[in-house]
Amino acid sequence: MSLKASASVALFVVFACFATGCSGGKTARNAEQAAPPANPTEVSLELIKGYRDWQRAVANVNTEAHISAIKDVYVNDEGIGSFRSGEVPFPVGSVIVKENFKFLSGGRKGELIALTAMSKMNPGYNPEGGDWAYIQTDPKFAETTLGKLEKCASCHASAANKDFVFLSRSK
Ligand code: HEC
Repeated sequence: MSLKASASVALFVVFACFATGCSGGKTARNAEQAAPPANPTEVSLELIKGYRDWQRAVANVNTEAHISAIKDVYVNDEGIGSFRSGEVPFPVGSVIVKENFKFLSGGRKGELIALTAMSKMNPGYNPEGGDWAYIQTDPKFAETTLGKLEKCASCHASAANKDFVFLSRSK
């Protein structure tokens, strides 16, 4: 195929997607699950909405870090490969959400009390901190703090060799 012909095929595909919204195939997402932008420059709660549909990479972690709680960790499509393999840095657009559940006697899991999350932003967002943004909110997304959040970043710095993610697999 000539260069010109392949260029027009490419143009046609782009145009067809534009016209149909590219609704078929693997890339189609349910409109309900707000898909995070691939290159996030601004941190917002939109980045973590729909996280329950992501892969649950770790279940029932029980450590004293953060608060005494039992934790489940969800990772989106962009980040799951790095989380599972320990291959770092995580790609831009990776988002990790940790659910923190009340710790009941006998190690039973109580109600969900808080969400803590980290989102890999565009290069330059916070280079010393691996360009991660941090989010803390409650299960109703009512009281939220987000951004570079020094209180989170300073402790996650001790996992800098794993791109600031403690629970990902070590290489
Ligand atoms: C005192 C240290 C410390 C502070 C402060 C801290 N974290 Fe963590 N964080 C950890 C440790 C240790 C883990 C892994 C073990 C666990 O979850 O219990 C973790 C796990 C996480 C994870 C799962 C991914 C990973 O790194 O394994 C997220 C997301 C997270 N923290 C977000 C936050 C946010 C948001 C804040 C601030 C509101 C915060 N953290 C503050 C120590 C800390």
